[in-house]
Amino acid sequence: MIVTIDGVAASGKSSVSSGVAQALGVPYVSSGLLYRAVTLLGLEAGADLAQPGALLPLLSGVRLEPLASGNRVWNAVHDLTADLHSTRVDTGVSVVAALPEIREWVDAQLRALPAPLVAEGRDMGTNVFPHAPHKFYLTASPRVRAERRARERPEDIPAIEAALTERDRQDTTQSAPAPDARIIDTGPLTLQGVIDTILEHLR
Ligand code: CDP
Repeated sequence: MIVTIDGVAASGKSSVSSGVAQALGVPYVSSGLLYRAVTLLGLEAGADLAQPGALLPLLSGVRLEPLASGNRVWNAVHDLTADLHSTRVDTGVSVVAALPEIREWVDAQLRALPAPLVAEGRDMGTNVFPHAPHKFYLTASPRVRAERRARERPEDIPAIEAALTERDRQDTTQSAPAPDARIIDTGPLTLQGVIDTILEHLR
């Protein structure tokens, strides 16, 4: 069984997916972390983030470890996870995610993982696992999302909101909900409320 949980930036996908996966006793995978890892390695190498030919050679040692408590991304023996949510990775990641060659690489990593699992991102229900029997799509207003992310970042809410709105715009192509996805407005719900809503639909 595969459950897909897609949604816009900072809609709570990772926390919700982790909670749903733990309740089901299966792993969850965060596809965004792989796009973030490509971006980080590209920035560290001084590569042009719009050139797949400069990025693909950096990826041979990259591996996603789908732990239920939180995914980790490794580059050979180096754990990249702590560096994947910086502002500079946030700013560059949509450029990298627009490259078909990089999307293919990420998709191949994800499809190689054994089911059952919960997969979260932008195009899990549309592109990577189109036959998944259970699909969800999380939304919330930009202000609500910015307020949530401000609890994780030392930045002010209007600046975070502007950056999120810009990233939504850049991610539009790959962010449409699957026609058979259930859309959940997480604005009025707590984290546990969103997890419980999904678990009720799965029962
Ligand atoms: O939670 P947040 O949206 O901040 O980040 P994320 O899920 O880690 O995704 C980071 C970026 O990766 C997004 O802004 C997209 O550019 C890209 N992404 C994508 O294109 N497709 C996915 N399935 C997942 C992420």
